[in-house]
Amino acid sequence: MTTWVLLSLLSALLLGTRSNGLGIVAPKVMIVTMFDSEAGAWFNIPEFNLLAQNITIPGFSPLYPDVHCTADGMVCLLITGQAEINAASTLSSLMYSRSFNLTQTYFLVSGIAGVNPKVATIGTVTFAKYAVQVALQYEFDAREIPAQFSTGYFPQGSKAPGQAPGWWDGTEVYEVNDALRQKAIAFAKTAKLYDTSDAQALRKLYSTSPAYAPAAAPPTVLLCDTATSDTYWSGDLLGKMVEDTMRVFTNGSAEYCTTQQEDNATLNALMRAALFHLVDFSRVIVMRSASDFDRPHAGEDAVTSLLGPAPGFGPALLNLRLAGVKVVQGIVSGWNSTFAQGIKPTNYIGDVYGSLGGNPDFGPGSLFGGKPARA
Ligand SMILES: *[C@@H]1O[C@H](CO)[C@@H](O)[C@H](O)[C@H]1NC(C)=O
Ligand SMILES: *[C@@H]1O[C@H](CO)[C@@H](O)[C@H](O)[C@H]1NC(C)=O
Ligand SMILES: *[C@@H]1O[C@H](CO)[C@@H](O)[C@H](O)[C@H]1NC(C)=O
Ligand SMILES: *[C@@H]1O[C@H](CO)[C@@H](O)[C@H](O)[C@H]1NC(C)=O
Ligand SMILES: *[C@@H]1O[C@H](CO)[C@@H](O)[C@H](O)[C@H]1NC(C)=O
Repeated sequence: MTTWVLLSLLSALLLGTRSNGLGIVAPKVMIVTMFDSEAGAWFNIPEFNLLAQNITIPGFSPLYPDVHCTADGMVCLLITGQAEINAASTLSSLMYSRSFNLTQTYFLVSGIAGVNPKVATIGTVTFAKYAVQVALQYEFDAREIPAQFSTGYFPQGSKAPGQAPGWWDGTEVYEVNDALRQKAIAFAKTAKLYDTSDAQALRKLYSTSPAYAPAAAPPTVLLCDTATSDTYWSGDLLGKMVEDTMRVFTNGSAEYCTTQQEDNATLNALMRAALFHLVDFSRVIVMRSASDFDRPHAGEDAVTSLLGPAPGFGPALLNLRLAGVKVVQGIVSGWNSTFAQGIKPTNYIGDVYGSLGGNPDFGPGSLFGGKPARA
């Protein structure tokens, strides 16, 4: 045996065998970010050091091969890579990795998002109950949309926008634990958010439209729902389409607030693992901060809105961490009294099929008679 191997084994024994491949890490919180800036917001902070150990997971993105953890393994962070395929395959790789025991872990999605100016503003930190995969639809190019259609998008198996889908692929809607969401927002509200004069100047441009009053107000911490789409869309008309699709897919329950490219995929991977008791789907928090508006203000065109400066980007990144640290600390410090045993959901949680048991009030109804798909 080489000296290096001996030293590795010795240090693994002394350090409680947490190093890569030699032990199982059971974090209390796993922070899920999507790209390097979102992760970077959590590094080199006074509260904890997420770069104390790096654990390589087969199946992760070649750009982001490691889970990053504190020395005691209590808090970890991963980077999925952007959009739905990266999110689903990274989360799945983690779920089925033997380096982690995630049965009691809280998953905190921590990402930036576009925002509907009718509901919130840039810099705001949101906590979602519903994640809706709004692009899982039929689509006509804008130049071929029938005259009577309000948009080129309409649900699969339907004949026109606004109709219910003719079939459900299962990932259209996820509903997460609202009781946990209420606890998370209470922690997050103790944070003092960051803002800049550039962000304030952009908000002011939305103040001339009464419908955009929330966009003109200062950033805050808010409960509101999120839309997933691989396509990074922008503009008034697609904004309206997403608002309508959220309502159709959730039977009127979700109000479209933020737009991002991953959450349904992340939730799908978590839900499938939950069926095998590898994770607890009632321990998922979807936190998204608003980095940019999804549509222009009065007097601006959609192209300028999308491609112009994004003064919300910096505050959105920092506010994720400022609010998120409070959530992480709240869970860790309240572990023995509250979080170890879990927060019992009072709402339905899971997908449109009822896979985890219970009856969703959206989608085709439970495919499993209200029982879990697996005992
Ligand atoms: C973990 O990886 C980061 C870079 O991603 C590096 O800065 C840090 O030093 C690494 N930590 C250890 C303990 O090797
Ligand atoms: C994972 O952790 C839970 C809770 O501490 C424990 O009951 C379970 O046996 C662990 N599973 C494995 C495979 O170690
Ligand atoms: C996306 O996830 C949300 C829950 O987070 C779920 O309600 C929605 O159905 C999902 N949408 C798709 C298209 O998968
Ligand atoms: C929580 O319980 C564990 C095990 O019983 C104990 O070691 C730890 O000190 C407790 N933590 C707090 C903050 O009370
Ligand atoms: C939609 O919601 C209404 C009540 O608002 C309810 O009566 C109906 O059963 C729901 N649809 C489905 C598919 O659950």
